Amino acid sequence: MTRELLQVKGLSKRFKDREVVKGISFSIAEGSCAALIGPNGAGKTTTIRMLAGLLQPSGGSVVLLAEGRPVADPRPYIGYLPQMPVFYPWMTGAEFLLYSGELAGLTRREATRETGKWLDAVGLRDAGKRRIGGYSGGMKQRLGLAQALIHRPRLLILDEPVSALDPAGRKDVLTLLQRIRLETTVLFSTHVLHDAEEICDEILMMREGEIVLQGSLDHLRRTYSEPVIRLEVGGDEVSRAWLAAAGGKDFVVQSEISGGRAKLRVADVERAALELMADAVSRRVTIRTLEAGQSTLEDLFLKAVRS
Ligand SMILES: Nc1ncnc2c1ncn2[C@@H]1O[C@H](COP(=O)(O)OP(=O)(O)OP(=O)(O)O)[C@@H](O)[C@H]1O
Ligand SMILES: [Mg+2]
Repeated sequence: MTRELLQVKGLSKRFKDREVVKGISFSIAEGSCAALIGPNGAGKTTTIRMLAGLLQPSGGSVVLLAEGRPVADPRPYIGYLPQMPVFYPWMTGAEFLLYSGELAGLTRREATRETGKWLDAVGLRDAGKRRIGGYSGGMKQRLGLAQALIHRPRLLILDEPVSALDPAGRKDVLTLLQRIRLETTVLFSTHVLHDAEEICDEILMMREGEIVLQGSLDHLRRTYSEPVIRLEVGGDEVSRAWLAAAGGKDFVVQSEISGGRAKLRVADVERAALELMADAVSRRVTIRTLEAGQSTLEDLFLKAVRS
């Protein structure tokens, strides 16, 4: 039986007369990893700052439950890494963690112990002795994660933890998150679906201040995957004309055709693939590729953010 850790109801934020978060509701189960995904300006950071208790909502409620009961002050239960964390460059990584731990309410002795532990966990044991000013972006982000986790929060909230990183830094942080999520409930925002798919099991898709789609990855994949055929034909006139007419076949539900490529949504992929191939062969159409499969979550994401 999964227990809810965070309940968000009708949460909204207005800046002057502009409502940028429009009464969103969702909950996060203990032990899950949820991705808040949406394009630039969707309202992800605004939402996250309200969840972390850093921004006063204009309406609605955020309730954090511990042992099934709402807590009065959720801050000790939450670890937060902002979209653009700011560090003191003259501090060493170890000094910064010690300071963060004490700030979060740990005793000096606890903070010292946890500092050593977290420097190891994020792969900064040696670098911890050096000044943060000399760290790479990936190292800073890993230090930021250690800072967000040092007081053992129940919920870790991360705002675009990998967006500013190069591929190597990105991989380091994603691998680390995969480990962290086994022990801590995680909510992180991203505008890259692939990152969400790599570590999360829940998706909250946001657009223009609203949640346009939510559910488990499995559920969304099952519910929204549709049979599609992707086709690419040769550049000759016969092939192009045939492709242009392919959208009109009775087994095609919907088609997108441009240049020599087509994406056809069909009722039955196997039948459609057979008929298309037989027809193409009899008319001497050059087929470069024919791929029968399901539409992906990427298709769904693009549809949700564009429509
Ligand atoms: N303090 C503020 N005052 C006025 N408008 C704001 C303020 N903060 C954010 N906004 C506006 O609210 C909208 C949502 O911004 P937000 O930063 O939450 O989006 P986001 O999804 O995090 O985008 P990104 O992917 O670029 O980080 C934007 O249109 C932004 O201009
Ligand atoms: Mg943002």
